[in-house]
Amino acid sequence: MEQAASDIVFQSYGRCCNNEQFFVDFYDRFMGSSAEIRTLFAETDMTQQRHLLRNGIMQLVLHARGMPDTKLRALGESHSRKGYGIQPQWYSLWLQSLIDTIREHDPQFDPQIESSWREAIGPGIELIRNAY
Ligand code: HEM
Repeated sequence: MEQAASDIVFQSYGRCCNNEQFFVDFYDRFMGSSAEIRTLFAETDMTQQRHLLRNGIMQLVLHARGMPDTKLRALGESHSRKGYGIQPQWYSLWLQSLIDTIREHDPQFDPQIESSWREAIGPGIELIRNAY
């Protein structure tokens, strides 16, 4: 039987998120991709931020598995123009940094895992982005 994208992603995240280095590498990559993004995190405690992101990605994964979107709506609010002012075009950089970091950390990474991630968490990212 074919496995659902959300199951593939749940297992892939399990192989990545136990290693703290996954989140270090994600932020190195994400902040390395733009000086503007680096500036946004200039005052941020990155140790704490890595823990918050661990949970944030889990919220995206759980949303794909049918959890209510309350937590994602709160992220939409905090990232909106009333909050951190995260411009909608930055989310594609975020997703690309995530995919590249998963490619590096998930030993089973392949094109099906990549497309499963894009399919499963795309709607949750859109929800946050559209709250701008
Ligand atoms: C804070 C997740 C996209 C910049 C946070 C927090 C979480 C989170 C869980 C901490 C909780 C909060 O403050 O609400 C996510 C997820 C994203 C995403 C899941 C993808 C959909 C982005 C993007 C940017 C960004 C694209 C920048 C271009 C920030 C900043 C903070 C933050 C500046 C606050 C840092 C601080 O407290 O100093 N994010 N984020 N996020 N995020 Fe995001």
